[in-house]
Amino acid sequence: MAILPILEAPHPILAKKARPVRDDEFTPALRQLLADMAETMYAAPGVGLAAPQVGDSRRIVVADPGNQEDDDGDKHPDLLLMVNPVIAERSRELITYEESCLSVPEYYLDVKRSQRIRVTWQDGEAASHERWFEEFPAIVLQHELDHLQGVTLLEHSSRLKRSRYLVRRRKRGRA
Ligand code: NI
Repeated sequence: MAILPILEAPHPILAKKARPVRDDEFTPALRQLLADMAETMYAAPGVGLAAPQVGDSRRIVVADPGNQEDDDGDKHPDLLLMVNPVIAERSRELITYEESCLSVPEYYLDVKRSQRIRVTWQDGEAASHERWFEEFPAIVLQHELDHLQGVTLLEHSSRLKRSRYLVRRRKRGRA
């Protein structure tokens, strides 16, 4: 297990569209990456992390919107490890939530998203899954799947708010 460095915007990998994981890539290395991404997310701490945020431009997401620990303290029964996730269906109802992102530090933005989504994905062994998510878990997954399209919170924001943020970051020598 390892905690991976998290890339921050603006970074070219964060702006790039991630490619699907191929059938021949379901190897121990992929399962190690999933474990490392989960450890990195919990350490941050965060409720979701997409592979481009750790420099790997493939369709991989980990999330734990509840982030509840059981009695043992470090088991995570609701942890989602998603390879090649796709939003197959969405509700017409929208909800707005103030989001933040590990790759866009100190930035908060109201984003309107589908209230319910049906997601299909594969696990680290290439088995297929599908499930409906609603409310906060649906928001988290839509945010993470945005990362796979090269979209961060900054792309959801107005041009003015985005450029103000980037100037502020540059002045601090962080960007
Ligand atoms: Ni994010």
